[in-house]
Amino acid sequence: MTEKAQAELLDDVLSRYQGSPNPRAREICEAAIRHMHAFVSEVNLTRDEWFYGIQFLTRAGQMCDDTRQEFILLSDTFGISTLVEMINYDAGEGSTENTVLGPFHVPGSPHRAKGETMLVDPDEGDRVVIRGTITNEDGEPVAGATLDCWQNATHGFYAVQQPGIQNEFNLRGIYTTDADGSYEIRTVRPVPYPIPSDGPAGDMLKANNRRWMRPGHTHMWVRADGYKELITHVFDVESEFLREDPVFGVRDSLIRSFEKDSNGELATTFDVVLERA
Ligand code: BEZ
Ligand code: FE
Repeated sequence: MTEKAQAELLDDVLSRYQGSPNPRAREICEAAIRHMHAFVSEVNLTRDEWFYGIQFLTRAGQMCDDTRQEFILLSDTFGISTLVEMINYDAGEGSTENTVLGPFHVPGSPHRAKGETMLVDPDEGDRVVIRGTITNEDGEPVAGATLDCWQNATHGFYAVQQPGIQNEFNLRGIYTTDADGSYEIRTVRPVPYPIPSDGPAGDMLKANNRRWMRPGHTHMWVRADGYKELITHVFDVESEFLREDPVFGVRDSLIRSFEKDSNGELATTFDVVLERA
């Protein structure tokens, strides 16, 4: 097929969207079609490769259930989730950077007191403290902000991945800032863990010699009235895989070092600056 014929085909497909009653749906469909046609032409996609792609997406759909979302994993490993975050959360100068939500957040974590541990089950990991202050861009403390935190256990799994094995609230907790904006979390030192690699996203990573270990991190979802919600992580500077995160979630500004504090505890400071809504 000549380039001219391919261009005519694209025009014909796009022309079918002229009558769309929804301008945004039309914009998204037209852009997606233009990029998909360009992609197929660029790589000269064979019929077998096209059918492999159809089967790949079919398998991705078949893997999805209430706790497994293979399409989000594909979006994460292609860097699309991070791109969407970059476009939608414009951290102004001085405010804390956001990163990917990931698939392991579960609403309804227990509220925990300042300094309480979120560790419920036995765990051989190092005990650590994450403490800091939440302020706004003017340096004023944000009192009553909530930090919804979640993390994997030292053997690598999140509680939601092991129902009936881990306590459902293990390494999950919602902390609230004091009047001076301060908070304090006790947990285990986060360790690297594998993202699920037994489906099409894992096949794609393995076929391209990519790794599927995330560097150690603790997740935080910070909410306060009048401020933009912040979904972020605290990364451990000593963790392996910081430079090859399979989901492109690492930001240099979110990496911290755990050091012995005056009480002899391994601790780090993670101050958060929220943007007004
Ligand atoms: C996570 O950090 O929990 C995560 C993020 C993206 C994909 C898989 C896991
Ligand atoms: Fe995680």
